Amino acid sequence: MKIIKVKDYQEMSQKAAELIIAQVKKNPKLVLGLATGSTPEGLYKNLIEDHRSNGTTYKQVTTCNLDEYIGLPKEDHNSYYAFMKGHLFDHIDVLAENTNLPSGEKEDRSAECAAYEALIHEAGGIDVQVLGIGGNGHIGFNEPGTPFDSLTHIIELDASTREANARFFNSLEEVPTQAITMGIQTIMSAKEIVLLASGTAKVEAISKLLSGEITEAFPASCLHQHPNVTIIVDEAALNENK
Ligand code: F6R
Repeated sequence: MKIIKVKDYQEMSQKAAELIIAQVKKNPKLVLGLATGSTPEGLYKNLIEDHRSNGTTYKQVTTCNLDEYIGLPKEDHNSYYAFMKGHLFDHIDVLAENTNLPSGEKEDRSAECAAYEALIHEAGGIDVQVLGIGGNGHIGFNEPGTPFDSLTHIIELDASTREANARFFNSLEEVPTQAITMGIQTIMSAKEIVLLASGTAKVEAISKLLSGEITEAFPASCLHQHPNVTIIVDEAALNENK
């Protein structure tokens, strides 16, 4: 596990963007695993900026997002589909047909989970997976207790996750109770993983992660078993702010 310590959110976002841009340039057909939430917003801004200024192209890139809420229509501004369109896809030259998120709207949920696994497999597997981390150590929406051998599945969101995400909704009641998420094994199958963490809300999660203990009670700890993980973490998340 490689740890890159950075000063703040801005530097975290820049470093993450540099890493992704270098990979896209090296392999124009990159399969990129993406996350939503506040953490990668700055990364996406930097990718858009670089696309506009330097012309980095995503025409052959395939993207696979980690997760989606169950029960929110795609058009809802809180769906992760809408998030990705608004924060990245509409502003770079990635082809809409090459952008993928699991669907939270399918009636046959287990068929959708299997189809998403198959889609990733057919794309050739994820080359680089971007992750944030939940305060409880979740990656994707794999909440504490999720088996390390899990594939894409439906999960009940933890109360703490719903509370953390309530900031985007009008009320806590509006936050969906379930999500569809890549499993831990799906994430671990990525060739390279980049986890981003910024801010004091992540201090406990980062300290647990860096303690090195590997347990399903703390999902992100699985990353210690992966051969190519980079953590880009700022001083606030490391509790190093003076
Ligand atoms: C989002 C995701 C989640 C978030 C995590 C942190 O697709 O999979 O694991 O990365 O909940 O969220 P933020 O970045 O909003 O603190």
